[in-house]
Amino acid sequence: CLWVRNLRQKRRLPGPFAWPVVGNVMQLGQMPHITFSKLAKKYGNVFQIRLGRNDIVVLNGDTAIRQALINHSAEFAGRPNFVSFQIISGGKSMVFGSYSRLWKVHRRIAHSSIRAFSSANSQTKEAFEKHVVGEALDLIQVFLRLSADGHYFEPAHELTVASANIICALCFGKRYGHDDVEFRKLLSRVDKFGETVGAGSLVDVMPWLQAFPNPVRSIYQNFKELNEDFFQFVKHKVIQHRQTYNPEITRDMSDAIIGVIEHGVGNENGLTKAHVEGTVTDLIGAGQDTISTALHWILLLLVKYPHIQAKLQEQIDKVVGRERLPNIGDKSNLAYLEAFIYETMRFTSFVPVTIPHSTTADVTIDDLHIPKDTVVFVNQWSVNHDEQKWKDPHVFNPSRFLDENGAVDRDLTNSVMIFSIGKRRCIGDQIAKVQIFLFTAILLHQCTFESNPSQEVTMDCSYGLTLKPLHFTLSAKLRDKFISLVS
Ligand code: HEM
Repeated sequence: CLWVRNLRQKRRLPGPFAWPVVGNVMQLGQMPHITFSKLAKKYGNVFQIRLGRNDIVVLNGDTAIRQALINHSAEFAGRPNFVSFQIISGGKSMVFGSYSRLWKVHRRIAHSSIRAFSSANSQTKEAFEKHVVGEALDLIQVFLRLSADGHYFEPAHELTVASANIICALCFGKRYGHDDVEFRKLLSRVDKFGETVGAGSLVDVMPWLQAFPNPVRSIYQNFKELNEDFFQFVKHKVIQHRQTYNPEITRDMSDAIIGVIEHGVGNENGLTKAHVEGTVTDLIGAGQDTISTALHWILLLLVKYPHIQAKLQEQIDKVVGRERLPNIGDKSNLAYLEAFIYETMRFTSFVPVTIPHSTTADVTIDDLHIPKDTVVFVNQWSVNHDEQKWKDPHVFNPSRFLDENGAVDRDLTNSVMIFSIGKRRCIGDQIAKVQIFLFTAILLHQCTFESNPSQEVTMDCSYGLTLKPLHFTLSAKLRDKFISLVS
């Protein structure tokens, strides 16, 4: 009746008109995060769109996102019950799982196992850093091989192998060569993961599309198969670990997770063996694509701005010299490098929108009522390109993060949003920062990178959970003698 309709209209969040059946699908465009930022200018930082049959609230800008994810952290900590999310990590994913008492235990276990193998004590910290340095040196040799005889190459796949190797070394105590055909094949398929789970993917909001042969259907089929293959790969390794498990010796992260889930607090709280496989799959998935994408953008920006590359090398040479490799201890003296990495994260915002959230209860923000079980998109890109916060946000300028004494401005670096905030905040941010710093410092210390003169270096990219550069080739040249000793 009329008054119910009026009441509904009054409570409806602001947002563009939604067409029947498809809603606002046609308006999303190639880069939904940019569309969302434009819509925020018109409708405010909290607005609603409709995709297929789902009403979706989009949060933009630091204030609205903080108000939701920090002030109402539990209410915004859910994940939508999308069909695609149920397929991931054998159906026992923590990353894509709903918010519950069990989930809290699961997240705590995953977080503490990452810490145990990267920063818990000086021994694990050193072993982790050694893995990263070794992987960076291996990558350089592959790059040099691919650059022989004046060739230009696409770095994407080698970066994927290098970053997968680091997380595999942490989880299984084992890495794989760049020439391991099976490993490369698996990773090239996992590369497509983000297409399906990125905010704005149509697979879950218009499930009826799966009934017809169309591109969305094949994306979904591929998604299902790649998740099954990836999960089987991990499960096989975990089973080997379980068979040789010794409570006295924790060899790697898989052992640590088996210990705590099957023989410790996880078991007491209702987590099962299947959660072990799920957790390891989650960590490899989350830790691989993000790091390789970050390094991909870093290489692109180094060749796009050769004067910045030269300035970084100059500072690294001054601080480190040419007789040893850079190490994590050099970080505090390499402010411009840290500024460059933060500017890469801000400028590219390569995780533009977080993994979709959902509300766990009715909640009100900015006087706007959001019902329980509403899908929520968190637009991180909008925070990093806010004209009120950043001077010339569309200009790449690492120096914006340095104060008048050349030191890193912590207020500003803390304003970059790429690891999200609140209860679903990334738990790999610390190891991610160590990996990106060491890789970049070592690559720059050893090599100079050049763009392909027959190709313009653009910021063109594909959209998904991560933004990935398109059509970009480069070559690497050794600066002087190759240092292979780990310092
Ligand atoms: C979640 C960013 C590296 C593990 C996330 C989320 C973002 C993110 C945006 C989603 C948060 C949300 O939904 O609100 C990044 C970036 C990385 C990175 C930019 C690298 C530069 C890593 C690494 C690991 C990791 C190396 C672990 C090995 C996780 C996990 C979650 C997550 C387990 C799920 C948290 C949850 O749902 O509670 N990350 N991440 N990430 N990340 Fe990362």
